[in-house]
Amino acid sequence: SNTHIAVIVGSLRKDSYNRKLATALARLGPPGFTFQQVEIGDLPLYNQDDDAHQAASVLRLKGEIARANGLLFLTPEYNRSIPGVLKNALDHASRPYGQSAWQGKPAGVIGVSVGAIGTAMAQQHLRNVLAYLDVPTLGQPEAFIQAKDGLFDAAGDIGPDSKKFLQTWMDQFAAWVIRHNA
Ligand code: FNR
Repeated sequence: SNTHIAVIVGSLRKDSYNRKLATALARLGPPGFTFQQVEIGDLPLYNQDDDAHQAASVLRLKGEIARANGLLFLTPEYNRSIPGVLKNALDHASRPYGQSAWQGKPAGVIGVSVGAIGTAMAQQHLRNVLAYLDVPTLGQPEAFIQAKDGLFDAAGDIGPDSKKFLQTWMDQFAAWVIRHNA
């Protein structure tokens, strides 16, 4: 049967490297896996006063997470942490208290940045939040990707230098998701 992955991209930028990586990674998924990028740009700023009447966009996000067999996070690094838009989405779908959509969903964490450490700090911050949310995250292999010429080819696929590594990453992520859905 189908294994469905909700893909959460922590950048709203139209030409986001992380969005491009999400699209390219999905093409490396094994047969039977489907990937859907979920929208987080239409969420209001989180306000605890709204927990009892969450916005339609929040309920939609929670439904998409609830239906997924696994989660794929692609985070940029903003000032050595995750972007606020990503934290906002994490907070929204974690509420109301006791009704988090995230709990128990196996996840992979990856990211691409222009900086030399390739989102290492942001990914560690994200792992800290996900640990609290009871989201088991793939530990190895880690993937800290630097955006440079040739990362993507003309078709938007992973370029030759990174293809083997990212295929291995995807294979391990898929195995992680399957193990947690057994
Ligand atoms: C950045 N960028 C950045 N890069 C990095 O490696 N470490 C960092 O701490 C930061 N900090 C940072 C803060 C802010 C507010 C912005 C806008 C950018 C650069 C970042 O890697 C670059 O903009 C990427 O292109 C962002 O990812 P997307 O949007 O291409 O997916």
